[in-house]
Amino acid sequence: MTRHFLRDDDITPAEQAEILDLAARLKKDRWADKSLAGPQTVAVIFDKSSTRTRVSFAVGIADLGGSPLIISTASSQLGGKETPADTARVLERQVAAIVWRTYAQSGLEEMAQNTIVPVVNALSDDFHPCQLLADLLTIREHKGKLAGLTLSFFGDGRSNMSHSYALAGVMAGMHVRIASPESYAPREDVVADADRIARETGGSLTLLTDPVEAAAGADVIVTDTWVSMGKEEEKLARLRDLGAYKVTQETMSLADPEAIFIHCLPADRGYEVDADVIDGPQSVIWDEAENRLHAQKALLVWLLRQA
Ligand code: CP
Ligand code: NVA
Repeated sequence: MTRHFLRDDDITPAEQAEILDLAARLKKDRWADKSLAGPQTVAVIFDKSSTRTRVSFAVGIADLGGSPLIISTASSQLGGKETPADTARVLERQVAAIVWRTYAQSGLEEMAQNTIVPVVNALSDDFHPCQLLADLLTIREHKGKLAGLTLSFFGDGRSNMSHSYALAGVMAGMHVRIASPESYAPREDVVADADRIARETGGSLTLLTDPVEAAAGADVIVTDTWVSMGKEEEKLARLRDLGAYKVTQETMSLADPEAIFIHCLPADRGYEVDADVIDGPQSVIWDEAENRLHAQKALLVWLLRQA
């Protein structure tokens, strides 16, 4: 049966571990897997800007022996004249998988419901599950494990990144803390899903408004832009509302002395994080950015094996 990856919890905890193990193997031996030899084509569609996702999917598909077809939505019929359903039916006759960065999660669901090829969420307003695979791989490399670690996210708790940490972090058995103002707390249905996953994995999700409490003893400190793509008109309000959640040296000093700092990038230095943290010795952001490549290759190989 075709499997899709639209949300972090579209896979089981065991499957998440399997994909991370495969990513680690492909990182050691980059050209070992030629699952897309032919070459088979993978469509990679962007409604929003991207550097890391675009490059890592294009390079990763080529590494696997395939051919990436990068489509800018504005230059296609999708989004204007054609529905995700009709686009899916056209693409499935010619491509091995569809990767899509878009706004509404419902568009991804419509795409997935109308195609026999795997659909991958390359970021939506609600989730960024590919980023989480790379982040978990990075944390595991630096800390030697995932289960039992405390990961603290600061800022917009209702963002795609926050929601993905809640689901994927808890799925990996981590204790995830999300520090945000109450009005930026994660969506209730996502919290309920994370709590359900936690009962299976031994992880946990804790929502906090106090950034000091969130930082205390944490193993991984995380933040993301306060102004996600599509939220630009809320910029002034967000800078005001989220100011207390900036990650600073003080935040790092409250965390475990061996704590690492991660950020999906792009970053607004001086806003969600100070430059001396993101460019400092505890930051592993460049490993994290590289790991997009290895994690997504593993994901594609794994999805194609299930089909
Ligand atoms: N982190 C991330 O998804 O970066 P891009 O927006 O550059 O793809
Ligand atoms: N939350 C950010 C992530 C960018 C990779 C956004 O959606 O713009």
